Amino acid sequence: MIKTKLNFTNIEKEVELFDKTRLEKIKEMILKKTGQGNDFLGWVNWPSSFNNEEYKAMKISAENLRAEINYLLVIGIGGSYLGTRAADDMIKGLYSKDKVKLIYVGNTMSSTYISQLVEFLGDKEFGIVNISKSGTTTEPGMSFRVFEKLLVDKKGEDVAKKRIIAVTDAHKGALKKLADSKGYQTFTIPDDIGGRFSVFTPVGVYPLLVSGINIDNVFKGAKKAEKELLKNINNDAVKYAVSRYILHTDKNYKAEALVSYELQMQYFAEWWKQLFGESEGKDGKGLFPTSMIFSTDLHSLGQFIQEGTKGIIFETIIDVKTPQKDINVPSNKEDLDGLNYLTNKSFHEINSIALKGVIDAHVNSGSVPNIILEFDKMDDEMFGYAVYFFEIVVTYSGYLLDVNPFNQPGVEIYKNNMFKLLKKPGY
Ligand code: PA5
Repeated sequence: MIKTKLNFTNIEKEVELFDKTRLEKIKEMILKKTGQGNDFLGWVNWPSSFNNEEYKAMKISAENLRAEINYLLVIGIGGSYLGTRAADDMIKGLYSKDKVKLIYVGNTMSSTYISQLVEFLGDKEFGIVNISKSGTTTEPGMSFRVFEKLLVDKKGEDVAKKRIIAVTDAHKGALKKLADSKGYQTFTIPDDIGGRFSVFTPVGVYPLLVSGINIDNVFKGAKKAEKELLKNINNDAVKYAVSRYILHTDKNYKAEALVSYELQMQYFAEWWKQLFGESEGKDGKGLFPTSMIFSTDLHSLGQFIQEGTKGIIFETIIDVKTPQKDINVPSNKEDLDGLNYLTNKSFHEINSIALKGVIDAHVNSGSVPNIILEFDKMDDEMFGYAVYFFEIVVTYSGYLLDVNPFNQPGVEIYKNNMFKLLKKPGY
């Protein structure tokens, strides 16, 4: 479902000749769980071994909640919301008419955002899924206080109890304690799956079920990827991991931009940035992951890519072969805008031609290597496949760089400073 193409990189030979023994060792480290961070490899077999009983319970709960609400507040930060947002946008598109819409909160402490959301919710019917693996993260915790109170004030405790769900650790953390004491239904994030690898657990599954996404199809894609990418090194995920490693360590590139020509992939790229940024960026190593949406960014960052500082950034292009929908450019008798030459083509055809033209410009006159990732399509099954694909890539990438891909010690430093300044007890 994903093909890695290297025709525009100039490193095809190096990738082909890359040390296979090293890759075999990494594969064994993943399968036998012997590498750094090995207690966080629960995601590896999750698509084929997740807890079916909990999945059934989530389906029932989500269906009941869907019947009552029009908005679901997804409270969470980082890995506790990015995968959900990536899936919802990619699969449903940006103007879905579905009954339930997801609203993301808990990823900001902006007073304006929170206040405007309180005003927006007015007399709208909403529910809350509060997601935090640690159960102690400040940003979602603060937001939960606001919106839990809003719901209780508007609807009373009994209704709130039915409309508030917690997704958290099975035993520890403030959220688990809070949910148990108030009688909120809870679903569990497994101990051995970290935030940014958790979209197939209740973290993503619960809100996406409420949003009306077909999770069976998401798992179908994830299972296909598990089958194709886990047990051998001759696949497109490993090929992509090796390519970006060579561009980083041999060719000295410092940054990678994930590029898509589909606006609804913007949050997929945000999810990807977290996955790679937190997994690779440590011990003074790693590519800086950034993203662009074309054509939008061709009219801003495109200038820099074409003619700015060379040798720092390469592009990885997601080329979606079959769009969810297509539309023709209408013909017009007067042709005052001179666009009738396009009327025998659809938007997707023109977008695909633009992609080819841009690659040519960036690679040949801009000297920017382009890796191409061909996606068959952009739906639920593809989402499942793509998430697992990039999780495999980032694990190989981390182990190639000799870092632990599954921790994020740097994130703690800002938290400690903030707690000291806020005079949190114990800091
Ligand atoms: O990848 C990670 O583990 C982090 O980005 C977390 O997802 C993020 O910090 C949120 O943590 P928590 O779910 O504990 O509130």
